[in-house]
Amino acid sequence: MESCAIVLLCALFTFAKQATPRDTCVCELADADQLFPHDKLSTLEDSASKCNSNVTPQKTLELESLLLGLERRLPQLQGDVSMLEREDDGDLYGVLSLQVIENEIMDIKQLIDKLNRTTLGNQRLTTNISIQLNDLKAEMQELEKHDTMQVIKSRKANQHLVKDLEQCRKGKNPSGPPTESPHGRCSHGQFLNITGARVYTAGEYPGSYPYGAWGRDPKPEAGKEAWYWLVLMTSNNRYSNYVRRYSSLSALVVGVSSPGNVQIHSSNPTTNTIQGPNVVMYGEALYYNCYNLDTVCRFNLTSKTVTTVQLPRGTRYNSKGNYCHLEECYPFTDLDLATDESGVWVIYTTKQDFGNLVLSKVEENEPLTLGQTWHTSVYKQAVTNTFMACGMLYATRYISRDLEEIFYSFDTATGLERFNIGILIHKMSPNIFSLNYSPVDQMLHVYGDSYMVSYKVLFG
Ligand SMILES: *[C@@H]1O[C@H](CO)[C@@H](O)[C@H](O)[C@H]1NC(C)=O
Ligand SMILES: *[C@@H]1O[C@H](CO)[C@@H](O)[C@H](O)[C@H]1NC(C)=O
Ligand SMILES: *[C@@H]1O[C@H](CO)[C@@H](O)[C@H](O)[C@H]1NC(C)=O
Ligand SMILES: *[C@@H]1O[C@H](CO)[C@@H](O)[C@H](O)[C@H]1NC(C)=O
Repeated sequence: MESCAIVLLCALFTFAKQATPRDTCVCELADADQLFPHDKLSTLEDSASKCNSNVTPQKTLELESLLLGLERRLPQLQGDVSMLEREDDGDLYGVLSLQVIENEIMDIKQLIDKLNRTTLGNQRLTTNISIQLNDLKAEMQELEKHDTMQVIKSRKANQHLVKDLEQCRKGKNPSGPPTESPHGRCSHGQFLNITGARVYTAGEYPGSYPYGAWGRDPKPEAGKEAWYWLVLMTSNNRYSNYVRRYSSLSALVVGVSSPGNVQIHSSNPTTNTIQGPNVVMYGEALYYNCYNLDTVCRFNLTSKTVTTVQLPRGTRYNSKGNYCHLEECYPFTDLDLATDESGVWVIYTTKQDFGNLVLSKVEENEPLTLGQTWHTSVYKQAVTNTFMACGMLYATRYISRDLEEIFYSFDTATGLERFNIGILIHKMSPNIFSLNYSPVDQMLHVYGDSYMVSYKVLFG
């Protein structure tokens, strides 16, 4: 029999939307009255597998060999009986033959008895199993009904709610026609897919630093075009105070850093050192979340100075606006710095955006400033990471230990959002702590669980 279908359980919440007279968006969260019967499902799975082990090929084999034995013995008996009839002259030879035949009849009787027992046992088993199967079927239907009612229904309600909230907000802040933006244009064409892992390495410190980031500077200094950078969260898996550099990809893989470290400050953490793993290098400078602040820091590797730019009031920081999946949130992922063809971006969330992702262009001039800002309708806690490519924001979500899905995109040129991207990332380790796109070679760089992995982005 087929093994039981695995029924996924999502959070069983019912959402209800209320439009209050003063045109505000209110979201009410209430526990569904019935919880999904997990224990029932697991008992069901247990009895299904027990049922499986009762019906074995062994049972059929036993029956077949008994029948085969009878089939051979009967003609033999028939032959012996007719021989006895022909030779029935009353002498010793005939008496011996009669005994042989009696023995044969005894053997055959035993065979038949055994066959009777086996058949009866099988009949009982068959009845028993068909009863069990019917029970299982009924229970599965019950569960399916439960699942359909509770999970699918609340999912639908959630989708409606998201749409309603979006419309409600758009009604409140009419944003006019989307303005022409240079960020959305790219010669590569549309983002189609990504390859399997092209680079997969534990690098210089295998297993030592679960959190970090790595990549290439898209706007390198002359002579450093092939260089790679690595930032490891060294203090408490949260903070860092230096960038490590490698003169080539192979130097990074074998773990030989002749350029060595460039230190921001000798203390870690301290004012304007690094907080959280989502950092990037651009134009020989490192961009990151400044320690203990809702601020973007830029560390100039040449002058060894830090410039900062304040994010909008209400920005969540200090591990209060993290990337998450169902089971955990990734600490200190409040601010995510990203690079693409048009430069540096910062992705974060604010109180006034109700925890949805907000995207701002970082203008890399001196002084450092924030450019245009976009507000999305994707909830940050449902996202595990983001990256920018060709002026588009892409967000990922956790599917399993092996799979992450690029599920969402936001086009900064048109303001268009899509929730159905459906491109899968085949992970080499369960968690993605940083994810960034390198416009120089169209590679996605992933750091997670001490591994550095990269994937080629396919445009078309
Ligand atoms: C098979 O076994 C049952 C119960 O032991 C008995 O009543 C029946 O007569 C048997 N049938 C044959 C053909 O021996
Ligand atoms: C029939 O199933 C019940 C459990 O439902 C079990 O206790 C019993 O031993 C089974 N009988 C046979 C002959 O397998
Ligand atoms: C994307 O690439 C994977 C292999 O890496 C392939 O299995 C999948 O079918 C591709 N998806 C699309 C939409 O082309
Ligand atoms: C970094 O500092 C050097 C030397 O002061 C300067 O020439 C360069 O423009 C600075 N880079 C950035 C990105 O500000």
